[in-house]
Amino acid sequence: MWDFKASGNIICMGSVIMDISVKCEQFPEIGETKYTPYTYEVTPGGKGANQAIAAARAGGKVRMLGRISDDVYGHELKENLRRSGIDVGMLIQDKAAKSGVAFVWVDEKGDNQIICSPGVNAENTVSDIKEGLQAMRQGDILLMTMEFSREILLCAAKCAKEKGGFVIVDPSSSECKRLDEELAGYIDIIKPNEVEAGMITGIKADSRENIEKALEYMETRGVRYPLISLGENGVAYKVDGKLHCEEGIKVHAVDSTAAGDTFIGAMACRLALGASIREAVRYGNKAASVCVQRMGAQTSLPFAEEID
Ligand code: RIB
Repeated sequence: MWDFKASGNIICMGSVIMDISVKCEQFPEIGETKYTPYTYEVTPGGKGANQAIAAARAGGKVRMLGRISDDVYGHELKENLRRSGIDVGMLIQDKAAKSGVAFVWVDEKGDNQIICSPGVNAENTVSDIKEGLQAMRQGDILLMTMEFSREILLCAAKCAKEKGGFVIVDPSSSECKRLDEELAGYIDIIKPNEVEAGMITGIKADSRENIEKALEYMETRGVRYPLISLGENGVAYKVDGKLHCEEGIKVHAVDSTAAGDTFIGAMACRLALGASIREAVRYGNKAASVCVQRMGAQTSLPFAEEID
């Protein structure tokens, strides 16, 4: 039964990174050098920051946890979060580590390839997170990526549940094999994409039957509401053992960067404002369809008036 009573607050944990993006006609083969007529862009990104800003633009009250570098990019990234209306008071300034950087390639079909150097984001500790979550209250939402060690993820999820919070997890692809039963038991919503769902469950999400099996797998491991985002085919999820499918919205996509971040941030915002899971999924799906029609990560995150 859907019984979440939201307080309105969202706490975000995940990477805050500078994206260096370039568009190209085609991705290079291994060993090949390609030239592109397009110029590169340096813009704030990182899955955690993107999700926090997506939630804030949709109307959410958001606080960011984690570490930020004291270098030029670090100051720019923090200021960008602050300007977006996010509470940055708990971000820890780290003088020793460099900012994280993501090298983003986007081809003419709008597909992307990303290499990420996390920098300061890899320096977070269990005690940083414990301290950051001290102020968490009943009905607050913890929205986190899996860009942390297992100890940090477990500590954050456990602490959030003990305080009566609601835990939403976005598994980032290279780390999502770590969804063990102990962690899964503290998760309310997990949102892998098709590839990540395959990594977590060992089931290729390529048919309705397999999607349902993959959702069931996550449910039996302890996740309350497992969800799989299927790109242009929408979203599939389970509530109380029942399969729901939210159709994809047909649009002209130019860049899929941050579409998943937009979905989960906008969905979390809706849940924080008291919506049901069905309403929140529908809203996240609409938000993602706006995002893919624009270039870049944070440049493409929609505001509430563009989603409604
Ligand atoms: O999800 C998109 C993000 O992933 C980009 O902004 C980039 O920073 C990468 O980490």
